[in-house]
Amino acid sequence: MNVLLIGGGGREHALAWKIAQSPLLEKFFAIPGSPGIAAFAECVENISVDDNAALVSFAVDKAIDLVVVGPEAPLVNGLVDSLNDAGIKAFGPTKLAAQIEGSKIFAKRLMKKYNIPTAAFEVFDKPDDAKAYIRKLGAPIVIKADGLAAGKGVIVAQTLDEALNAVDEMKTFGAAGSKIVVEEFMDGEEASVLALTDGDKIIPLIAAQDHKRVDDGDKGLNTGGMGAYAPAPIVDATIAAQVEERILKPTIEALKAEGIVYRGCLYAGLMIKDGMAKVVEFNCRFGDPETQVVLPLMESDLLELMTACAEGSLADKKISWRKSSAVCVIMASGGYPKAYKKNLPIDGMTKAKALGAMIFHAGTKLKDGNLVTNGGRVLGVTTTAPTLREALDKAYRAVEVIHFDEVHYRRDIAAKALK
Ligand code: AMP
Ligand code: GLY
Repeated sequence: MNVLLIGGGGREHALAWKIAQSPLLEKFFAIPGSPGIAAFAECVENISVDDNAALVSFAVDKAIDLVVVGPEAPLVNGLVDSLNDAGIKAFGPTKLAAQIEGSKIFAKRLMKKYNIPTAAFEVFDKPDDAKAYIRKLGAPIVIKADGLAAGKGVIVAQTLDEALNAVDEMKTFGAAGSKIVVEEFMDGEEASVLALTDGDKIIPLIAAQDHKRVDDGDKGLNTGGMGAYAPAPIVDATIAAQVEERILKPTIEALKAEGIVYRGCLYAGLMIKDGMAKVVEFNCRFGDPETQVVLPLMESDLLELMTACAEGSLADKKISWRKSSAVCVIMASGGYPKAYKKNLPIDGMTKAKALGAMIFHAGTKLKDGNLVTNGGRVLGVTTTAPTLREALDKAYRAVEVIHFDEVHYRRDIAAKALK
Protein backbone atom coordinates (compact mmCIF):
# COMPACT_ATOMS: atom_id res chain seq x y z
CA MET A 1 0.00 0.00 0.00
CA ASN A 2 1.06 3.58 -0.64
CA VAL A 3 0.30 5.73 2.39
CA LEU A 4 0.18 9.48 2.94
CA LEU A 5 0.29 10.77 6.51
CA ILE A 6 -0.98 14.29 7.21
CA GLY A 7 0.66 16.17 10.08
CA GLY A 8 4.05 16.67 11.65
CA GLY A 9 3.75 16.52 15.43
CA GLY A 10 4.71 13.93 18.03
CA ARG A 11 1.51 11.99 17.45
CA GLU A 12 2.24 11.75 13.74
CA HIS A 13 5.82 10.65 14.43
CA ALA A 14 4.43 7.80 16.55
CA LEU A 15 1.89 6.95 13.83
CA ALA A 16 4.65 6.94 11.20
CA TRP A 17 6.87 4.70 13.36
CA LYS A 18 4.03 2.21 13.81
CA ILE A 19 2.77 2.30 10.20
CA ALA A 20 6.33 1.74 8.97
CA GLN A 21 6.35 -1.66 10.71
CA SER A 22 3.48 -2.93 8.58
CA PRO A 23 4.32 -5.53 5.93
CA LEU A 24 1.51 -3.95 3.87
CA LEU A 25 3.43 -0.68 3.44
CA GLU A 26 5.07 0.15 0.12
CA LYS A 27 5.59 3.89 -0.47
CA PHE A 28 5.20 6.27 2.46
CA PHE A 29 4.79 10.07 2.29
CA ALA A 30 4.12 12.69 4.94
CA ILE A 31 2.86 16.27 4.60
CA PRO A 32 4.54 18.20 6.15
CA GLY A 33 6.27 15.49 8.22
CA SER A 34 9.20 16.32 10.49
CA PRO A 35 12.88 15.47 10.98
CA GLY A 36 11.65 12.49 13.04
CA ILE A 37 9.13 11.29 10.46
CA ALA A 38 11.77 11.63 7.72
CA ALA A 39 13.31 8.37 9.00
CA PHE A 40 10.21 6.54 7.72
CA ALA A 41 8.53 8.64 5.06
CA GLU A 42 9.33 11.11 2.32
CA CYS A 43 8.34 14.48 3.78
CA VAL A 44 6.74 17.08 1.50
CA GLU A 45 6.76 20.55 2.99
CA ASN A 46 5.46 22.75 0.19
CA ILE A 47 1.80 21.71 0.43
CA SER A 48 -0.38 23.18 3.17
CA VAL A 49 -2.43 20.75 5.28
CA ASP A 50 -5.34 23.21 4.84
CA ASP A 51 -5.28 22.97 1.06
CA ASN A 52 -7.69 20.11 0.35
CA ALA A 53 -7.42 20.42 -3.43
CA ALA A 54 -3.62 20.28 -3.40
CA LEU A 55 -3.63 17.31 -1.00
CA VAL A 56 -6.10 15.41 -3.17
CA SER A 57 -4.07 16.05 -6.27
CA PHE A 58 -0.87 14.89 -4.51
CA ALA A 59 -2.65 11.70 -3.38
CA VAL A 60 -3.92 11.01 -6.91
CA ASP A 61 -0.49 11.69 -8.36
CA LYS A 62 1.29 9.29 -6.01
CA ALA A 63 -1.40 6.57 -6.28
CA ILE A 64 -2.02 6.73 -2.53
CA ASP A 65 -4.12 3.85 -1.17
CA LEU A 66 -4.75 5.33 2.27
CA VAL A 67 -4.44 8.85 3.66
CA VAL A 68 -4.04 8.96 7.44
CA VAL A 69 -5.07 12.33 8.85
CA GLY A 70 -3.41 13.14 12.18
CA PRO A 71 -4.58 16.58 13.39
CA GLU A 72 -8.12 17.85 13.93
CA ALA A 73 -7.98 20.98 11.76
CA PRO A 74 -7.90 19.21 8.35
CA LEU A 75 -10.62 16.80 9.54
CA VAL A 76 -12.90 19.65 10.63
CA ASN A 77 -11.97 21.31 7.32
CA GLY A 78 -13.42 18.39 5.32
CA LEU A 79 -10.21 16.82 3.98
CA VAL A 80 -11.63 13.30 4.24
CA ASP A 81 -14.73 14.33 2.27
CA SER A 82 -12.57 15.78 -0.50
CA LEU A 83 -10.40 12.64 -0.63
CA ASN A 84 -13.42 10.32 -0.66
CA ASP A 85 -15.03 12.38 -3.44
CA ALA A 86 -11.89 11.72 -5.48
CA GLY A 87 -12.13 7.98 -4.73
CA ILE A 88 -9.26 7.97 -2.22
CA LYS A 89 -9.59 6.08 1.06
CA ALA A 90 -8.83 7.96 4.24
CA PHE A 91 -8.52 7.18 7.92
CA GLY A 92 -10.41 9.86 9.84
CA PRO A 93 -13.95 11.21 10.13
CA THR A 94 -15.74 13.36 7.56
CA LYS A 95 -16.43 17.03 8.16
CA LEU A 96 -19.86 16.34 9.67
CA ALA A 97 -18.52 13.61 11.94
CA ALA A 98 -15.52 15.72 13.00
CA GLN A 99 -17.95 18.24 14.51
CA ILE A 100 -17.79 16.05 17.59
CA GLU A 101 -14.55 17.90 18.28
CA GLY A 102 -15.04 20.94 16.03
CA SER A 103 -18.11 22.14 17.91
CA LYS A 104 -18.46 21.72 21.66
CA ILE A 105 -22.15 22.59 21.27
CA PHE A 106 -22.68 19.82 18.71
CA ALA A 107 -20.99 17.31 21.04
CA LYS A 108 -22.83 18.43 24.17
CA ARG A 109 -26.24 18.42 22.45
CA LEU A 110 -25.59 14.98 20.99
CA MET A 111 -24.67 13.60 24.43
CA LYS A 112 -27.72 15.20 26.04
CA LYS A 113 -30.12 13.92 23.39
CA TYR A 114 -28.78 10.35 23.63
CA ASN A 115 -28.18 10.17 27.39
CA ILE A 116 -24.42 9.87 27.20
CA PRO A 117 -23.01 10.80 30.63
CA THR A 118 -21.44 14.28 30.67
CA ALA A 119 -21.55 17.52 32.70
CA ALA A 120 -24.77 19.58 32.61
CA PHE A 121 -24.41 22.66 30.39
CA GLU A 122 -26.07 25.71 28.83
CA VAL A 123 -25.18 27.56 25.63
CA PHE A 124 -25.17 31.37 25.34
CA ASP A 125 -24.56 33.81 22.51
CA LYS A 126 -24.81 36.90 24.71
CA PRO A 127 -22.02 37.34 27.29
CA ASP A 128 -24.43 39.02 29.75
CA ASP A 129 -26.76 36.02 29.71
CA ALA A 130 -23.80 33.71 30.35
CA LYS A 131 -22.74 35.90 33.28
CA ALA A 132 -26.22 35.91 34.81
CA TYR A 133 -26.28 32.11 34.63
CA ILE A 134 -22.80 31.87 36.16
CA ARG A 135 -23.85 34.13 39.06
CA LYS A 136 -26.81 31.85 39.67
CA LEU A 137 -24.71 28.63 39.72
CA GLY A 138 -21.53 29.93 41.38
CA ALA A 139 -17.97 28.55 41.17
CA PRO A 140 -16.23 26.25 40.45
CA ILE A 141 -17.62 26.33 36.95
CA VAL A 142 -16.27 25.75 33.43
CA ILE A 143 -16.44 28.20 30.50
CA LYS A 144 -15.75 26.97 26.96
CA ALA A 145 -15.53 28.52 23.50
CA ASP A 146 -17.61 26.61 20.95
CA GLY A 147 -15.04 26.00 18.21
CA LEU A 148 -11.45 24.83 17.87
CA ALA A 149 -9.16 27.08 19.89
CA ALA A 150 -5.98 24.97 19.90
CA GLY A 151 -6.78 23.57 23.33
CA LYS A 152 -6.98 27.04 24.87
CA GLY A 153 -10.72 27.67 24.68
CA VAL A 154 -11.52 26.08 28.06
CA ILE A 155 -11.34 27.87 31.40
CA VAL A 156 -11.93 25.97 34.61
CA ALA A 157 -12.84 28.84 36.95
CA GLN A 158 -12.36 28.31 40.67
CA THR A 159 -13.94 31.63 41.67
CA LEU A 160 -16.91 33.67 40.45
CA ASP A 161 -14.61 36.53 39.36
CA GLU A 162 -12.48 34.18 37.29
CA ALA A 163 -15.62 32.79 35.65
CA LEU A 164 -17.00 36.22 34.77
CA ASN A 165 -13.61 37.28 33.33
CA ALA A 166 -13.50 34.05 31.35
CA VAL A 167 -16.71 35.06 29.55
CA ASP A 168 -15.01 38.28 28.41
CA GLU A 169 -11.90 36.35 27.34
CA MET A 170 -13.97 34.21 24.97
CA LYS A 171 -14.01 37.18 22.57
CA THR A 172 -10.30 36.63 21.97
CA PHE A 173 -11.02 33.27 20.32
CA GLY A 174 -12.72 34.94 17.32
CA ALA A 175 -15.43 32.86 15.66
CA ALA A 176 -14.71 29.94 18.01
CA GLY A 177 -15.72 32.12 20.97
CA SER A 178 -18.87 33.71 19.52
CA LYS A 179 -20.96 31.12 21.34
CA ILE A 180 -20.16 30.23 24.93
CA VAL A 181 -20.75 26.95 26.71
CA VAL A 182 -21.08 27.10 30.49
CA GLU A 183 -20.63 23.73 32.08
CA GLU A 184 -20.98 22.12 35.47
CA PHE A 185 -17.59 21.48 37.10
CA MET A 186 -16.75 17.77 37.34
CA ASP A 187 -14.45 16.53 40.05
CA GLY A 188 -12.45 13.31 39.63
CA GLU A 189 -9.51 11.83 37.78
CA GLU A 190 -9.09 12.19 34.02
CA ALA A 191 -8.23 9.48 31.52
CA SER A 192 -8.30 9.13 27.75
CA VAL A 193 -9.85 6.19 25.96
CA LEU A 194 -9.25 6.15 22.22
CA ALA A 195 -11.16 3.77 20.00
CA LEU A 196 -10.90 2.67 16.39
CA THR A 197 -14.20 2.47 14.56
CA ASP A 198 -15.53 1.88 11.07
CA GLY A 199 -18.84 3.48 11.97
CA ASP A 200 -20.23 0.16 13.14
CA LYS A 201 -17.77 -1.84 15.16
CA ILE A 202 -15.70 -0.18 17.86
CA ILE A 203 -12.38 -1.40 19.24
CA PRO A 204 -11.24 0.58 22.30
CA LEU A 205 -7.49 0.94 22.70
CA ILE A 206 -5.81 0.63 26.09
CA ALA A 207 -6.50 3.63 28.29
CA ALA A 208 -3.92 6.35 28.78
CA GLN A 209 -3.56 9.31 31.08
CA ASP A 210 -2.37 12.69 29.88
CA HIS A 211 -0.98 15.52 32.03
CA LYS A 212 -2.57 18.72 30.73
CA ARG A 213 -1.13 21.31 33.08
CA VAL A 214 2.30 22.75 32.42
CA ASP A 215 3.76 22.31 35.93
CA ASP A 216 4.18 19.52 38.48
CA GLY A 217 1.21 18.77 40.72
CA ASP A 218 -1.21 19.71 37.90
CA LYS A 219 -0.43 23.41 38.42
CA GLY A 220 -0.17 26.20 35.89
CA LEU A 221 -1.76 26.68 32.50
CA ASN A 222 -3.42 24.01 30.34
CA THR A 223 -1.22 22.76 27.50
CA GLY A 224 -1.60 20.29 24.65
CA GLY A 225 -0.28 17.66 27.08
CA MET A 226 3.00 17.40 29.01
CA GLY A 227 3.30 13.64 29.21
CA ALA A 228 1.34 10.42 29.27
CA TYR A 229 1.44 6.81 30.34
CA ALA A 230 -0.47 3.65 29.52
CA PRO A 231 -2.18 1.54 30.63
CA ALA A 232 -3.91 3.89 33.09
CA PRO A 233 -4.94 1.84 36.16
CA ILE A 234 -7.85 4.22 36.89
CA VAL A 235 -9.56 2.61 33.89
CA ASP A 236 -9.94 -0.88 35.33
CA ALA A 237 -11.92 -3.63 33.61
CA THR A 238 -15.23 -2.38 35.05
CA ILE A 239 -14.69 1.22 33.94
CA ALA A 240 -13.41 0.06 30.55
CA ALA A 241 -16.59 -1.97 29.98
CA GLN A 242 -18.72 0.94 31.15
CA VAL A 243 -16.95 3.35 28.79
CA GLU A 244 -17.51 1.00 25.87
CA GLU A 245 -21.18 0.27 26.64
CA ARG A 246 -22.34 3.66 27.93
CA ILE A 247 -20.13 6.08 26.04
CA LEU A 248 -18.35 4.79 22.93
CA LYS A 249 -21.02 2.54 21.43
CA PRO A 250 -23.93 4.92 22.20
CA THR A 251 -21.99 7.81 20.64
CA ILE A 252 -21.35 5.96 17.38
CA GLU A 253 -25.00 4.87 17.36
CA ALA A 254 -26.18 8.42 18.16
CA LEU A 255 -24.18 9.79 15.25
CA LYS A 256 -25.62 7.09 13.00
CA ALA A 257 -29.14 8.02 14.13
CA GLU A 258 -28.28 11.59 13.09
CA GLY A 259 -27.25 10.30 9.67
CA ILE A 260 -23.50 10.49 10.31
CA VAL A 261 -21.13 7.53 9.87
CA TYR A 262 -18.06 8.06 12.05
CA ARG A 263 -14.90 6.36 10.83
CA GLY A 264 -11.44 6.74 12.31
CA CYS A 265 -10.30 7.28 15.86
CA LEU A 266 -12.80 8.52 18.43
CA TYR A 267 -11.12 9.95 21.50
CA ALA A 268 -13.14 10.14 24.69
CA GLY A 269 -11.67 12.41 27.35
CA LEU A 270 -13.15 11.14 30.60
CA MET A 271 -13.62 12.27 34.19
CA ILE A 272 -13.84 9.30 36.55
CA LYS A 273 -15.22 9.46 40.06
CA ASP A 274 -16.72 6.83 42.35
CA GLY A 275 -16.71 4.19 39.65
CA MET A 276 -18.53 6.39 37.11
CA ALA A 277 -17.04 7.80 33.91
CA LYS A 278 -18.38 10.98 32.30
CA VAL A 279 -17.28 12.61 29.06
CA VAL A 280 -15.21 15.79 29.39
CA GLU A 281 -14.76 16.09 25.64
CA PHE A 282 -14.59 14.11 22.45
CA ASN A 283 -11.78 14.48 19.95
CA CYS A 284 -12.03 13.33 16.36
CA ARG A 285 -8.45 11.99 16.15
CA PHE A 286 -5.68 10.29 18.08
CA GLY A 287 -4.52 12.06 21.25
CA ASP A 288 -1.18 13.78 21.53
CA PRO A 289 0.77 12.56 23.59
CA GLU A 290 -1.53 9.57 24.31
CA THR A 291 -0.68 8.02 20.92
CA GLN A 292 2.99 8.03 21.84
CA VAL A 293 2.29 5.61 24.72
CA VAL A 294 -0.57 3.56 23.26
CA LEU A 295 1.06 2.58 19.95
CA PRO A 296 4.31 1.22 21.46
CA LEU A 297 2.15 -1.27 23.37
CA MET A 298 0.16 -2.40 20.32
CA GLU A 299 1.22 -5.70 18.79
CA SER A 300 -1.24 -5.63 15.89
CA ASP A 301 -0.70 -4.12 12.47
CA LEU A 302 -2.00 -0.55 12.71
CA LEU A 303 -2.06 -0.02 8.95
CA GLU A 304 -4.29 -3.07 8.53
CA LEU A 305 -6.62 -1.78 11.25
CA MET A 306 -6.77 1.74 9.82
CA THR A 307 -7.54 0.39 6.37
CA ALA A 308 -10.36 -1.69 7.86
CA CYS A 309 -11.77 1.46 9.53
CA ALA A 310 -11.71 3.31 6.22
CA GLU A 311 -13.27 0.41 4.32
CA GLY A 312 -15.92 -0.49 6.89
CA SER A 313 -14.46 -3.94 7.53
CA LEU A 314 -13.40 -3.77 11.17
CA ALA A 315 -15.91 -6.50 12.16
CA ASP A 316 -13.42 -9.38 11.95
CA LYS A 317 -10.44 -7.54 13.45
CA LYS A 318 -8.93 -7.77 16.92
CA ILE A 319 -6.12 -5.89 18.60
CA SER A 320 -3.48 -7.56 20.73
CA TRP A 321 -1.39 -5.73 23.29
CA ARG A 322 2.01 -6.23 24.85
CA LYS A 323 1.83 -6.75 28.60
CA SER A 324 4.10 -3.77 29.34
CA SER A 325 3.81 -0.16 30.38
CA ALA A 326 4.75 2.92 28.39
CA VAL A 327 5.66 6.43 29.49
CA CYS A 328 6.14 9.61 27.46
CA VAL A 329 7.72 12.71 28.98
CA ILE A 330 7.33 15.86 26.92
CA MET A 331 10.34 18.15 26.77
CA ALA A 332 8.97 21.62 26.07
CA SER A 333 10.37 25.07 25.33
CA GLY A 334 10.62 27.31 28.40
CA GLY A 335 7.63 29.65 28.46
CA TYR A 336 5.23 27.23 26.70
CA PRO A 337 2.17 27.41 26.47
CA LYS A 338 2.89 31.14 26.26
CA ALA A 339 5.70 32.71 24.19
CA TYR A 340 8.92 30.70 23.82
CA LYS A 341 12.16 30.79 21.83
CA LYS A 342 12.84 28.70 18.73
CA ASN A 343 16.00 27.58 16.92
CA LEU A 344 17.79 26.39 20.07
CA PRO A 345 20.22 23.51 19.37
CA ILE A 346 19.20 20.11 20.75
CA ASP A 347 21.93 17.80 22.10
CA GLY A 348 22.08 14.32 23.54
CA MET A 349 19.61 12.51 21.26
CA THR A 350 22.03 9.69 20.43
CA LYS A 351 22.84 9.11 24.11
CA ALA A 352 19.14 9.07 25.01
CA LYS A 353 18.38 6.52 22.29
CA ALA A 354 21.24 4.36 23.55
CA LEU A 355 19.44 4.29 26.92
CA GLY A 356 16.52 2.59 25.19
CA ALA A 357 14.24 5.58 24.64
CA MET A 358 12.23 6.33 21.54
CA ILE A 359 12.19 10.04 20.88
CA PHE A 360 9.18 11.39 19.04
CA HIS A 361 9.71 14.84 17.54
CA ALA A 362 6.91 17.27 18.35
CA GLY A 363 8.49 20.57 17.33
CA THR A 364 11.95 20.31 15.81
CA LYS A 365 13.60 21.22 12.53
CA LEU A 366 16.96 20.89 10.87
CA LYS A 367 19.02 24.06 10.58
CA ASP A 368 22.27 23.71 8.65
CA GLY A 369 22.07 19.99 9.30
CA ASN A 370 21.64 20.38 13.08
CA LEU A 371 18.51 19.63 15.07
CA VAL A 372 16.94 22.73 16.70
CA THR A 373 13.74 23.52 18.61
CA ASN A 374 10.79 24.66 16.54
CA GLY A 375 7.69 24.51 18.75
CA GLY A 376 6.24 24.65 22.23
CA ARG A 377 6.34 20.91 22.70
CA VAL A 378 9.71 19.82 21.31
CA LEU A 379 10.29 16.12 22.04
CA GLY A 380 8.34 13.21 23.53
CA VAL A 381 10.79 10.87 25.24
CA THR A 382 9.07 7.49 25.30
CA THR A 383 9.98 4.19 26.91
CA THR A 384 8.38 0.82 27.50
CA ALA A 385 9.21 -1.71 30.21
CA PRO A 386 7.55 -4.62 32.03
CA THR A 387 6.38 -2.26 34.81
CA LEU A 388 5.38 1.39 34.91
CA ARG A 389 8.08 2.12 37.51
CA GLU A 390 10.80 0.76 35.21
CA ALA A 391 9.43 2.58 32.17
CA LEU A 392 9.34 5.80 34.15
CA ASP A 393 12.90 5.51 35.46
CA LYS A 394 14.12 4.69 31.97
CA ALA A 395 12.27 7.70 30.51
CA TYR A 396 13.70 10.18 33.00
CA ARG A 397 17.22 8.78 32.58
CA ALA A 398 16.91 9.52 28.88
CA VAL A 399 15.36 12.95 29.47
CA GLU A 400 18.32 13.91 31.64
CA VAL A 401 20.87 13.40 28.86
CA ILE A 402 18.99 15.56 26.34
CA HIS A 403 19.61 19.27 26.46
CA PHE A 404 18.39 22.50 24.93
CA ASP A 405 18.37 25.95 26.52
CA GLU A 406 15.39 26.76 28.75
CA VAL A 407 14.02 23.22 28.50
CA HIS A 408 10.98 22.53 30.67
CA TYR A 409 9.46 19.18 31.56
CA ARG A 410 7.30 17.79 34.32
CA ARG A 411 9.05 15.56 36.84
CA ASP A 412 5.86 13.90 38.08
CA ILE A 413 4.55 12.09 35.00
CA ALA A 414 2.62 8.96 36.09
CA ALA A 415 3.11 9.80 39.78
CA LYS A 416 -0.65 9.39 40.28
CA ALA A 417 -0.56 5.82 39.02
CA LEU A 418 2.26 4.84 41.37
CA LYS A 419 0.52 6.12 44.50
P1 AMP B 1 -11.38 20.12 26.97
O1 AMP B 1 -10.63 20.89 25.93
O2 AMP B 1 -12.85 20.19 26.88
O3 AMP B 1 -10.80 18.76 27.19
O4 AMP B 1 -10.98 20.80 28.36
C1 AMP B 1 -9.62 20.94 28.75
C2 AMP B 1 -9.47 20.52 30.18
O5 AMP B 1 -10.31 21.30 31.02
C3 AMP B 1 -9.90 19.08 30.46
O6 AMP B 1 -8.90 18.17 30.18
C4 AMP B 1 -10.23 19.15 31.92
O7 AMP B 1 -9.05 19.08 32.69
C5 AMP B 1 -10.81 20.52 32.08
N1 AMP B 1 -12.29 20.47 32.00
C6 AMP B 1 -13.06 20.62 30.91
N2 AMP B 1 -14.37 20.52 31.21
C7 AMP B 1 -14.44 20.28 32.54
C8 AMP B 1 -15.52 20.11 33.47
N3 AMP B 1 -16.78 20.16 33.09
N4 AMP B 1 -15.20 19.89 34.76
C9 AMP B 1 -13.90 19.88 35.19
N5 AMP B 1 -12.85 20.06 34.35
C10 AMP B 1 -13.11 20.27 33.05
N1 GLY C 1 -3.73 15.07 24.83
C1 GLY C 1 -4.91 15.82 24.59
C2 GLY C 1 -5.35 15.85 23.21
O1 GLY C 1 -4.81 15.19 22.35
O2 GLY C 1 -6.30 16.57 22.93
